[in-house]
Amino acid sequence: MTQPWQHEEPEPELPRVRPVIGWPGGKTRMLSHLLPLIPEHTCYCEVFGGGLAVFLAKPESRVEVINDINGELVAFYRYCKFHLEPLLDEIDLVLNARQELRDYLAQPGLTELQRAARWFIRNRISFGGMGGDFAVSRLQPLGSRVQRQLAIRALNRRLDRTAVENISWEKCLAIYDAPGTCFFLDPPYLDSGGRAYAGWSEHELAQFAAAVTRLQGKWIVTYQDCDQVRAAFAGYRIQAIERANGIGNNGGKRGRVYREVIITPEAATAGRARRGASA
Ligand SMILES: C[S@@+](CC[C@H](N)C(=O)[O-])C[C@H]1O[C@@H](n2cnc3c(N)ncnc32)[C@H](O)[C@@H]1O
Repeated sequence: MTQPWQHEEPEPELPRVRPVIGWPGGKTRMLSHLLPLIPEHTCYCEVFGGGLAVFLAKPESRVEVINDINGELVAFYRYCKFHLEPLLDEIDLVLNARQELRDYLAQPGLTELQRAARWFIRNRISFGGMGGDFAVSRLQPLGSRVQRQLAIRALNRRLDRTAVENISWEKCLAIYDAPGTCFFLDPPYLDSGGRAYAGWSEHELAQFAAAVTRLQGKWIVTYQDCDQVRAAFAGYRIQAIERANGIGNNGGKRGRVYREVIITPEAATAGRARRGASA
């Protein structure tokens, strides 16, 4: 029972959950194409999680797994899930300053929590979330500190029943493959993800396609539209999408159209025409 001298802290009203980091290759611009393609499933597994654009936009599944090979990215999500208040306190102590970008890598004495908080701020204040160059803007105001904290709280709530893995895609497929699983697979493209992660070789792409097409579970793959991916997934449904260029595509040259494909095992949704899509 609450004592008269105790004050009940009102629960803050949380915004709709969405990615809290900027990440090259993020799928926000493709959501209208991707969300209707997610088939019925029991377990949803996002193998190349990055900024989690699809995971955070889709309805909750019974069992959910997010994964990424990037240890710093996953450490941030794990702190967000398991140690929310210390993480928020620590983030509050980090300045949104150019100097943070330089200091981050030169501070081996930091605790894991301090590193996770600084990794996050570094992502937010750098160009394209790549952690390299301080993002100067003459047009956009700085992000709101208060809104940032609320967004992380919303993510904490969303991750409550989600497994957060930090393993290779091969291991992730091996562990979670089952007829009731739906894998969303958005691996590195042949052109790179900037400083955040390396681009794949044609050999890696071919090995990946061979593994995906052997899965018992359902799957959705996104990739840059190129001959190599069309050859690797020949015989499967390949839907071409055009979107405005983003950071991490074609060296980040904006203002151009970037072509991607969505690949699925069967033509189950062929009847639903979508804007900008062609088979
Ligand atoms: C195209 S990004 C995913 C973007 C994500 N869909 C989003 O909306 O932000 C590819 C991700 O794959 C991760 N990655 C690269 N190699 C990997 C591997 N061998 N196993 C698992 N993840 C890997 C990278 O760290 C990167 O976050």
